Formats: sequence, structure tokens, C-alpha cells
Amino acid sequence: MVVVFEATHEQLTAKYPAEVNERYPKGRKPWISSIEQYKTMYDQSINDPDTFWKERADELVEFFSPYHTVSSGTIDKGDIRWFDGGKINVSYNCVDRWAKKTPDAVAIIFEADEPGQAKYITYKELLDMVSKAAGTLRSFGLKKGDTVAIYMPMVPEAAVSMLACSRLGLVHNVVFAGFSANSLAERVNDSKATVVITADQGLRGGKVIQTKAIVDEALKSCPGVKNVLVFKRTGAQVNFQEGRDVWWDDALNQQTEFVEPVHVESEDPLFILYTSGSTGKPKGLVHTTAGYLLGAAMTSRYTFDLAQGDVFCCSADVGWITGHTYGVYGPLSLGVTTVIFESLPSYPDASRFWQTVDTHKITQFYTAPTAIRALRRLGDQFVTSNDLSTLRVIGSVGEPINPEAWCWYRTVVGKDSVSVVDTYWQTENGSHLLTPMPFATTTKPGSATFPMFGIVPAILDANSGEELTSTTAKGVLCIKRPWPSIARTILGDHQRYLATYMHAYKGYYFTGDGVLRDEEGYYWIGGRVDDVINVSGHRMSTAEIESAIIENEAVAESAVVGVSDDITGQTICAFVLLQSGLKESDEIKKSIIATVRAEIGPIATPKYLIILDDLPKTRSGKIIRRVLRKVAAGEEDQLGDLSTMSDPSILAGIVSKVHSAFKK
Ligand code: WTA
Repeated sequence: MVVVFEATHEQLTAKYPAEVNERYPKGRKPWISSIEQYKTMYDQSINDPDTFWKERADELVEFFSPYHTVSSGTIDKGDIRWFDGGKINVSYNCVDRWAKKTPDAVAIIFEADEPGQAKYITYKELLDMVSKAAGTLRSFGLKKGDTVAIYMPMVPEAAVSMLACSRLGLVHNVVFAGFSANSLAERVNDSKATVVITADQGLRGGKVIQTKAIVDEALKSCPGVKNVLVFKRTGAQVNFQEGRDVWWDDALNQQTEFVEPVHVESEDPLFILYTSGSTGKPKGLVHTTAGYLLGAAMTSRYTFDLAQGDVFCCSADVGWITGHTYGVYGPLSLGVTTVIFESLPSYPDASRFWQTVDTHKITQFYTAPTAIRALRRLGDQFVTSNDLSTLRVIGSVGEPINPEAWCWYRTVVGKDSVSVVDTYWQTENGSHLLTPMPFATTTKPGSATFPMFGIVPAILDANSGEELTSTTAKGVLCIKRPWPSIARTILGDHQRYLATYMHAYKGYYFTGDGVLRDEEGYYWIGGRVDDVINVSGHRMSTAEIESAIIENEAVAESAVVGVSDDITGQTICAFVLLQSGLKESDEIKKSIIATVRAEIGPIATPKYLIILDDLPKTRSGKIIRRVLRKVAAGEEDQLGDLSTMSDPSILAGIVSKVHSAFKK
């Protein structure tokens, strides 16, 4: 029998004081053990930021030569710099330091797709791998400042590749391996990468992904790429281009010389990561070295109460910012063990996460609400059949977590004695902006609670742009001053960086999210206020999907909206107008879906594809997406002012099409 936990009214409105989090670390106090301690540190981080950040930097990171200025620059000018004058290396901080102190501690546990095939890599072994991978990249003629694209499955070699880049001061551009050849090519070319690191194939939930074949296809339109380093994940026969392609094992085995970490400037770029904005083209956000590293280390320590000896598992793919900061850089910078999870939460069955926790005695576990909701639906027995008593903190990230899912996570996974941290942040931020402190903050299900150290949130009225200073407020979430791990620019388009983030509300960093602050000062994230949709925690812009749809020759016009979904948060609903003379058919629909998958990747597949005879438009011909959004949300009786609509008589037809599509 499937037992589905239903949250009661009491649970939904409950507060969980820090004292009910009973799983304290052994042999030490939690890093933050009371709300007073959090407040004292937070106050210092705001009132005397340079001292606060200097102290954190002293505790958490090692510079080769000291910086002269802790911070400079403003949001308004977009000229933010941290730890200027310092020389540092990220791979040294994440690997060498621990290889010296605790060489035999496990750095990475690889939980492979098939259960029971885990591999363990110690810090000493990791250093050897990173040095050899760096030697290989150097042998390609790469030098500081050059860009390397990484298109890899969730294997330790992905992390090794990132660390090897940082060792040489190379800038990595990790592209999620679920993106299509087209998307990969676009990102490789935009970042001017000359080397791609990939694998023969990927494995996920028992399925084989033709990773190398996708790279080969992409590189047909990437003339700048000179070398491809190929890790053998499955050992399958794949196309191999002599002169360009190099096998990972062969190349690394040839490296006999230890590669010293290059001393880079604090503000040298560490990586580029593409993300979707409200307009079509993905943005390559640039993160720099020292500030990002400190942000990753500091938030990992405090949000998850991480310390050496812990086993941390972040289930996010390394192709997203969460995989960068909390899968790789955060935990390794603290010398803890990170679990790289190659599989799916549902493979071979819904107990996979919890079996992994049980097997590796995971102490902190971090995943997305979409996974929590899906697993909750499948029943408690998958959880309760495993020993999860090692867990001390369980985290959520990527989208709003509904209180029911939060309560299930806490009660069924956390046995009502583990802290749930709902962490709010974005690719642009590098590290957490809002989060509870696990042994200090009274939590409320569904609220990301309070700001991280150094973060000054502000709620602005979306229309007037005025800051709402009363405790209870509702508006758009902005941040008032720079923090160390904020992205410094959009690659090749600083104007767009300024316009999108810094000048939308002048002088404030604009997140794009709606927010509510309750009477006790808790923050509740509402969701995007722009044309960005969030499907299973994957961020996509409606404009990007629309331009993919238009690539199909049968399509004349399209409009994409997000529709809320119990499991994935939102799903994609695409409205399409066919070229004149064409009739709706399953064939045409399939071909449009195939176009989207080829243009962007399977993650952008519309769940609903609705062919219309007319799109709602203004008299000047602009599509009124608001109307489509409302109809798709079942709110056709609340369409608001339709006076600008050129032909309201088409509405009835749209409503009936939507109803029948959603019924299927
Ligand atoms: C959403 C992921 C509510 C939000 C780290 C944000 C959240 C976007 C939360 C960034 C949360 C992330 N509660 N919403 N705890 N975390 N979001 O860049 O809309 O992939 O703007 O970064 O995800 O997505 P991104």
C-alpha cells in the first residue's frame, strides 16, 4: 500500500524552533548554535563588512600573497571587486591543502548509475588526478585566461576537469550534458572555448546518452575548437577524430611532472556559466576567483553546518550553479567528502536517494523540491526502509518548496529531528542569499527565512520602484549591496549585465523574483516576475523556447507560458500558429517537439502543445501573453482589461482548446 503523507493544518502553519533539530554534530558545537549568534554575526557583516569578510577569509581560504583591499565598487556602477591585489588558486584551496593535512580522507564518493558500484577518491588521489589533468590541458597549449568547455556526465572527472582548469587559471564553461548539440555549439562559440572535455557516453537511470556524438555534431559549427579530451565512461565504440580527439586515460597517464597551481589574481575569472534570462539568448555569467571561493566556502560551512569528517551530497548536476558551488567547490574547499550522484532519484526505484544516504552515511543532503514532491507521491516505504540516522541537515533549492513537501521532507526523511534548510539563490549570486541556519533559526515550512551574512535584502514596489520598508511587505526582491560571490559581468555584454541586474531598479541588484516579508520578518519567495519559467528547478526563458519552436518550418508564430504543476513546479505550455494552409496533425506536433529538443534539449520539451487559429494580440500586433497565461491557469474568468485586444471573439476558441488539451 502506498502511504502518502498529508500535512495537517497544524503542520502547515507550524514553526520549528531550532531546539527541535536534535542531531547535533559530534565532538563540537554547531558553527552557529543560536539565533543570537546569527544576529551578532549578521550585524557585523552589515555594519563592518570589511572586517567580517577579512575574518572569514582568514578562516576559510588561503592566499599566496595578501590582498590590499577587501572590497570596492558598487551595484550602480557594476564595478564590483573583492580582495584586490591578492594572489590565490582555487584548486590549491580545494585540493592541495587537504592532500597535505588529511591525504587519506575521502574527497569524492562516486555513486554510479548502477547501485553497488561506488568509487572512492581520497584527497591525495584527487591531487594526483587534478595535477595530471592540468598537465594534459597545458600540453594542448592552453594558458591562463583561455576557456575550456566541459560537457560531461556526473562523474568525478567532471569535477577534476573543473579543478584542473582552475589550477592553470583557465576559465571553465560547464554545459549541462542534457543540452542539445545546437545549444552546446552556441555556448562553445560564445565563450571562445578552444578545448572541450567530454565522455564517450553518459549513463542515467539505466539509459545511455550519446555524449560524444552530440559533441561531434556540435563541433561541426565550432571552428575554434582544437582538441577534445574524451573520458571513457562506458568504453563503447565512438567516433574518434585523430589529431583532435585525445583519450583522457592515455593523456593523464603520460603526465609525469607535478603541475604547480598558478597564482592568479583575486578578480581573474574562474568560470562562465550560461543561464536563461527573459530574452532569447542565454547569458554567460562570469564568476571570479577569490570572492566566489569565499562565498562557496562560507555558505557551505554555515548553511549546512559542514566540517571535516562530514559526507555531503548535493544531487544537482554539475552543469548547474548548484553543482558548481555545493557539489564541487564548497565542500572541497572545506576538506569534506562530496558525493557525486550519477543516477536518478527513481532508479532503479524510489529508494535510491535514501539507499545512497544509508550506504555512504551521508550527513547533509541537498536536493530540489521537484524530487521531493515526486518521491513523496510514491510513498513513505521507500524512505523508511533505510537507515537515515546519519543525516543532520537536509536542504532544498531551485524553486519554491510548498509546505506539504517541506513537512514530508522533515517528518519522513528527517524523522522530525533534522533541520530543513530552504535555500534561495541564483546562478548570478554564486552562493546562498536567503537561508535558515540549521541549529539556530526557527523555520516555517515554505519560507527561506532570513538573509545570509552580508546580504541586505530590499523589497521594492514593482511599479514605483520604491523600497517598502515596513516589516510586512510584498514586491520584488532586490539586494542592496555587493557580496563576494556575485557574478561580475555577462560575457561580452557588460551593458546587458547593468541593464538586467543593476539598473532595472537603479542602485539595487534585481533578482527577478517576487517576495513577501511576513510580520516576523521571514522572507517567502513567490516565483519569477519576468518571462523566466522554472521546470523541475531548470531555468528557461519563454522567449528562448519560442525561438526554438519558430525554427520549425510549419510554424508561423508561437507563444510560450508556464503552467503550474504538482511535481515539476511549472511545465511548458506552447501555443502555436501554423503557416497558412497547414492543418493540425500529430505529425506536425511531433516535428515541432523534435525541433525544440534539437534546438535546446529535452528539458525544454513542451508538456502541452496547443495549435491555435489565432493568438490574442493587441491592435498593434503584440501577443498578449497575459491572456494565454490566465487561460492556461484556468482563470479565464479573470482576464482583466481586454480593451487593447484586437479581436476578443477568438477567446472562446482558445479556452475550449486549452480545456481539451489539459484533459488528455
Ligand atoms: C528560483 C538555482 C524559491 C528563483 C540556485 C530564482 C527559488 C531561480 C529557490 C534561480 C528557493 C531558487 N525558493 N525559489 N529556495 N531557489 N529559486 O539560477 O526563481 O538555476 O530566481 O539557480 O530559481 O535559478 P538558478
